[in-house]
Amino acid sequence: MEVIRGVLVIYLTIITSVVNVEARYHYHKKQKNKAPPNNSPAPTYANPPQVVPSDPASPSISPPPPASTPPVPSDPYPNDPVDSSGCVFDVTSFGAVGDGSADDTAAFREAWKAACAVESGVVLAPANYCFKITSTIFSGPCKPGLVFQVDGVLMPPDGPEEWPKADSRKQWLVFYRLDNMSFTGSGTIEGNGEKWWDLPCKPHRGPDGSTMSGPCDSPALIRFFMSSNLVVSGLCIQNSPQFHMKFDGCEGVFIDKLSISSPKLSPNTDGIHIEGTKTVGIYNSLIANGDDCISIGPGCADVDIEGVTCGPSHGISIGSLGVHNSQACVSNITVRNVIIKESDNGLRIKTWQGGTGSVTGILFENIQMENVRNCINVDQYYCLSKACLNQTSAVYVNDIQYRTIKGTYDVRNTPIHFACSDTVACTNITMSDVELLPYEGELVEDPFCWNAYGTQETLTIPPINCLQEGEPVSVKESNKYDC
Ligand SMILES: *[C@@H]1O[C@H](CO)[C@@H](O)[C@H](O)[C@H]1NC(C)=O
Ligand SMILES: *[C@@H]1O[C@H](CO)[C@@H](O)[C@H](O)[C@H]1NC(C)=O
Ligand SMILES: *[C@@H]1O[C@H](CO)[C@@H](O)[C@H](O)[C@H]1NC(C)=O
Ligand SMILES: *[C@@H]1O[C@H](CO)[C@@H](O)[C@H](O)[C@H]1NC(C)=O
Repeated sequence: MEVIRGVLVIYLTIITSVVNVEARYHYHKKQKNKAPPNNSPAPTYANPPQVVPSDPASPSISPPPPASTPPVPSDPYPNDPVDSSGCVFDVTSFGAVGDGSADDTAAFREAWKAACAVESGVVLAPANYCFKITSTIFSGPCKPGLVFQVDGVLMPPDGPEEWPKADSRKQWLVFYRLDNMSFTGSGTIEGNGEKWWDLPCKPHRGPDGSTMSGPCDSPALIRFFMSSNLVVSGLCIQNSPQFHMKFDGCEGVFIDKLSISSPKLSPNTDGIHIEGTKTVGIYNSLIANGDDCISIGPGCADVDIEGVTCGPSHGISIGSLGVHNSQACVSNITVRNVIIKESDNGLRIKTWQGGTGSVTGILFENIQMENVRNCINVDQYYCLSKACLNQTSAVYVNDIQYRTIKGTYDVRNTPIHFACSDTVACTNITMSDVELLPYEGELVEDPFCWNAYGTQETLTIPPINCLQEGEPVSVKESNKYDC
């Protein structure tokens, strides 16, 4: 049934894109009346999306090629940096217009289908074009070595008004069920986020600088879901309506040389968010945005972050964890050789009261702070409403090292703050070579620690005398903190 519906839609989109060549002005109207099944609501673990794109295992259901688009890929580009054994499927050969206003969704889907079916296939969005596509799930499984290469500009519809009614408002580009895939290029993913940031439901965007109720969903720009062995590199990703990149349920992610940017006051525009994702490297990237630079949610392990510059932003955050009494496990995270500047937070671990599980094996090393509020922060009382009650359980924070953390802080907050849970202390915190000075104004002399245990290998600046030595009487009275 799904397959039949899928084939029908593919026919429809081809017909529409053929029509598009002659009568582009009517295209948007036609498009509004369609409800492509690939735009189902955000997929979740329990409810995977129903998707059109390619099923290379069943070539017999491929629609006949339309007369106006070549059925075979164009020749590989001789100067192309990608493996020359792969075929290049240029979206313009599939009818993409790339003028910044035509809807090129159908062409991208067809190019994806073709590239997915061959080994080392390349979907190419070439330079000097600006392509617009609507919310799409690019789905596998595909042959190994697939590359989605954007050298031009790729963008979604401009704001909630232009967003097709039937499309998901939670995500735009989704890569699903892929293994051994790269998303790369020298181009730009332009999020067209401004009209979403200005919705009255967003913090302080209402008429009197208030926040109003009303529809608030805003799409994450790029999501990788239930995929493995991914490379994301080279691209400029900007002005997302919400999170710029999100990885959930993935394993084996290598991110290199990205530039992510949106304005300092753009709400919820996290740079890179990972959850339920293991074996991740994030390297050599610049991230400036209005929320967390990198956020690490429950279920992440073996994450290595190096050579990243954050700011303005809300820093690097582990959490929030343990919401609604959930179990959260985060382990083996290294953050090294990172600059954090002009940020509301530096290195933060935030957990809710009432969770279980643990955060353990975290190393922050060689971090340069420039005018940062809350440089070092563990908050086990995280709460959005100010009405959260203390509970007897909390996600256990253990084995956290802060080594060579230097630079300047914004004096509105104490630069070092460990607020650990009453019943579940933080343990084995190591401080070594921590030197933080005011960016401007008076030294803040009152670092804060509550129920925090650990050692100072060298004296910190500002000095802390509230970190307790040794072990608390009862660290783990049950196995609910095991992961
Ligand atoms: C895909 O697999 C090949 C062969 O194992 C490897 O060389 C390549 O780096 C992989 N690519 C990605 C994106 O994982
Ligand atoms: C920790 O994660 C790194 C990758 O960041 C990995 O190479 C290493 O093997 C992991 N260590 C353990 C003990 O699993
Ligand atoms: C929760 O516990 C902390 C630490 O003991 C205390 O400062 C805070 O007031 C408590 N909050 C509530 C809502 O009881
Ligand atoms: C405390 O942390 C250090 C540094 O990560 C680690 O080597 C050690 O095993 C931890 N000790 C305990 C008791 O967990």
